[in-house]
Parts: sequence; C-alpha cells; structure tokens
Amino acid sequence: MIRNFCRATLALTLGLALSQISHADPDLPPWSEKAIQEDVDIEALAASGQDPIAVLQPLGERLFSAKFTTLDGAGRPDATGAIVPTKVRRQSHLTFQRLAGLDANACASCHNEPVAGGSGAFTANVFVSEGFTSADFDTIDPQFSNERNTNAIQGAGLIELLAREMTSELRKQRKNVLAKARANGRPEQIALETKGVSFGSLTAYPDGTLEVSELDGIDDDLTLRPFSQKGVFPSLRQFTVNAMNAHHGIQSTERFGSKWTGTDDFDADGHTTEMTPGQISALVAWQATLPAPTRKENLPDIWQQAAQKGEELFGEIDCSSCHIPALPLESLVFYDPGPFDTAGTLRQSDVETPLALDLSTLDWVKSLPRDDQGRVLVPLFGDLKRHKIADAANDTFGNELLAQRFVARDVFITSELWGIGSTAPYGHRGDLTTLNEVILAHGGDATESRKAYSKLAEPDRQSIIAFLRSLEIAK
Ligand code: HEC
Ligand code: HEC
Repeated sequence: MIRNFCRATLALTLGLALSQISHADPDLPPWSEKAIQEDVDIEALAASGQDPIAVLQPLGERLFSAKFTTLDGAGRPDATGAIVPTKVRRQSHLTFQRLAGLDANACASCHNEPVAGGSGAFTANVFVSEGFTSADFDTIDPQFSNERNTNAIQGAGLIELLAREMTSELRKQRKNVLAKARANGRPEQIALETKGVSFGSLTAYPDGTLEVSELDGIDDDLTLRPFSQKGVFPSLRQFTVNAMNAHHGIQSTERFGSKWTGTDDFDADGHTTEMTPGQISALVAWQATLPAPTRKENLPDIWQQAAQKGEELFGEIDCSSCHIPALPLESLVFYDPGPFDTAGTLRQSDVETPLALDLSTLDWVKSLPRDDQGRVLVPLFGDLKRHKIADAANDTFGNELLAQRFVARDVFITSELWGIGSTAPYGHRGDLTTLNEVILAHGGDATESRKAYSKLAEPDRQSIIAFLRSLEIAK
C-alpha cells in the first residue's frame, strides 16, 4: 500500500502525463489499414496512480472488435495455433481456413450476440485442437479437434475473481492438511470445499506427499480453471494470448517473444512484437469489466408469473445443485497479471506492481446484491466445477473423441446460465436449438435432475423455460 502510494506520488512529481502511459502511433495516416494503432505502458500506468480501467477499457474495446490485417502481423505462416509455441511441419497455402485457423478477422467476429463480447452462432464454432499432438488439420473429423460453440464473456471478470478466491481457499486447505499430517505423523484426509462447492477430498502423508485420486471436478494442482466449455483455462489473460495466436496469428511478446522462442518473429511473417503486454492488458480489462448478464425487465405478467414458478422448480428438482444461483465474492479488485498465471502468460513476478482494476467502481457492479457480510453475490447460476454430464444412456454431450488436457471426454464445466436467454444455440457444440433439448441432453451426474424435469407436467416444464429465457445479456 505504502509502496504503491510512493510510486504514484513519484509518477505525479515526475509529471508522467497520460500521453507517456498510452499513445497512438504518430506515423500512421488516419486512413491506415493497421488495426492495432495504440499501446499502453503498463508499468508506467501502474506507477501513475491513474485508474487503469479508464485508460485500458477504451483500447480493449477497440482491439476486441478490430479486424486485424497483415499490417498488424495477422497470419502465422510458420506457426500453428497451439498454445505452446509450435512450428508448422508443412506451410499451408491458405492463410485463412475455418478449421486450424486463421478462422476469423476479429474477436468480435464470433463473440457478437447480442453485443460484442457475447456468444456466437453455429457458424462461429471453433475446432479446438490446442495441446493435441498436431494442431495442423484440415478436416472436421472429430478425431482431430473438438468442435465448440462460442461462450459469452459478459461477467467474466467476476467469474475469474471467484475462481481466484476459490483456488486460494482450496490451497489453504491443502496446506493445513499437510501440516496436520506432519504434526500427527499419520495420513490425514480433508474434504475440500469452498463457497459451498465441494471438490472431493485430499489425503496428506507425513512425508509431505499427497493422494489426489479423490479430487472431484478440479485439476490436481487445485487451480480452478473456469474458462472454456471444458473448464481448462484459468484466466482471461491466458485465454486472450491463446486466442490471439490461434484465431488471428497475432503473437504476443509474453508468449512468443525471444525470451521463450529465441526470436522476435516466431511465425516468420516479417512482423516482430505483434502484441505487447499493454495491449493484452487492455483486452483483459475490457473483458473483465463487461457487465454481467441481468434479468429481463418489464415482462408481461404471464411471463413474470411463469418465470417465478420456474425459478422455484429449478431449485426443487436440483438444477440448482450445479447451477448455483449465486456465489459470494469477497474482493472486487482484479489484479492483472493475476496470481495464478504460469510461464508463457505475463505473471505478477514479471512486473513491479500489478494493475489493480477496482470493479467496485463500475455502476453495474454497484447494483449487485450483497450478503450480510458485505460480500457481492454473483448471480452466475453455476458452480465453476466440472461434472460428468454424459453416459451410455444419454450421450448427446459425450460427442467429443479427444480428452482435452486429460479431462475425461464426458466431463464439462457447469455452464453459467446467467445470460442464457441471449445465447442460443445451446450445448458445448452449439447443436441444440431449444432449451428443452439441452436440458433433456443432461446425463451422467445430472441424470436424476433431468428425470425430475421430464416427469414435470408440461406447464411446469414451460415455466422453467420461461425462467431461463428471462436471464439475458442486456443490449
Ligand atoms: C472463430 C470464433 C472465435 C474467435 C475469433 C474468438 N473466439 Fe473466443 N471463444 C470462441 C469459442 C468457440 C469459445 C469456447 C472455446 C472452448 O470451449 O474451448 C471461446 C471462448 C472464449 C473465452 C472463454 C469464455 C468463457 O467463459 O469460457 C474467452 C475469454 C474468449 N473466448 C476470448 C476471446 C478473445 C479475446 C478473442 C480475440 C483474440 C476471441 N475470443 C476470439 C470463439 C471465438
Ligand atoms: C450435475 C450438474 C448439473 C445439473 C444437476 C444440471 N446441470 Fe445443466 N449443465 C451442466 C453442465 C456440465 C452443462 C454443460 C453441458 C455441455 O457440455 O454443453 C450444463 C448445461 C446446461 C444448459 C445449457 C447451457 C448453454 O450455454 O448451452 C442449460 C440450459 C442447463 N444446463 C439447464 C439445466 C437445468 C434446467 C437443470 C435441471 C433440470 C440442470 N441444468 C441440471 C451441469 C448440470
């Protein structure tokens, strides 16, 4: 705190003007076809005492909708879309190709319903191959990639904050059980739980080793990864760096720069430094501050009454055991870089001071309810946990052949249902057109709940649809 204050004072006395923190390229004519024209020095910004949201958000908004061009370094002739910098084996004669990419011009080419940052139609699906042995493929055969529908990003800042707090809490529990095993000289077990969500159990041994086979819905390192349909990415920052390379061939210095690859032009397209940490921070800030979904207002009485009834039934038939209506969040300060990023994404240890985006200053955050301890209740209708959601009897969701990051093929993270009224089509592949269909597709751990839904009288099932359709992303 004191250190931050001193740095801010220093910046002011040094007269760090906004123009020294963020600037547009002065050499570009106003008609330039370069889409990336501005940069931000995040070290200077963190030191300046300026509100980072105010500086970064407008640039992030422009970058998210910008159609990147070859002048920006769009294209990756010599690199694949893989997350870990990987060279192609054979150069493709196609710069754009809907399968292995480049598959789009802008982030908003896919994330655009009902507004920028939102979800996407089936036409905007992505063939996800990262981490698999070959990211070069030219077929929709599911042996080579998993086809995924576009997720909406609205509210993602709160989701990442929840995940960070849950990760910290689970790691504290791990530390305690390890200490206990050591002190008592015998194995000790702990049931892991945070914010009311249980993640199985962990056994610690006196020699400091852990038995992780009883964990449930989370990775062995106890990092909660809330992003993607699968739930395998920890942060907006990591996702953004991945997406920039995979979809657009724009390579971020923090992942593809000479520090890790020995060259400033890993994709050999003649462009160095295609995206700086400041530009990634701008994209993160815009996404992290996108207003959370809300409820439709001024519904006709008949819809309002049905939605109310449907919300009650949603609890009664245990949909809410996974789609938890709200989770409590202690702190609204979003640090960027975040605490749990690993090498290849900018880490807190890579900067003097992380940016502190105070989400509590945003009007839409002020209107969220709080509990009696002052914690914000994030109305996500989710649990940030992965579940087995398909089985032999109901395998609609069991349609993937590749187990991404060794998460079983029939396991997916609970979709957050806030905004579901705005994000058709449904299911991780986007191949289900109605809410009724996607509910009936639930198998695995959701089987009992789905059966209870099937057994309801038709007007009661309709009321659940009325409720879900009242949850929207405001335009
Ligand atoms: C070609 C379509 C497409 C483009 C272009 C695209 N995305 Fe996505 N986005 C998707 C799909 C599909 C998913 C779900 C991926 C999955 O489940 O593996 C997704 C997921 C995400 C998520 C995770 C959201 C969540 O709640 O799980 C973030 C964040 C994101 N995209 C950011 C971006 C950014 C930033 C860009 C631009 C650099 C971008 N996307 C470009 C289709 C796209
Ligand atoms: C065991 C946990 C669990 C239970 C119980 C559960 N769901 Fe789900 N739900 C999920 C998961 C996981 C997904 C993601 C499925 C996928 O891979 O697309 C999902 C997806 C959905 C979707 C589609 C979201 C989208 O963006 O396409 C809807 C709607 C939904 N659930 C409603 C319900 C309703 C209504 C009930 C009660 C009848 C219910 N769920 C019970 C875990 C659960």
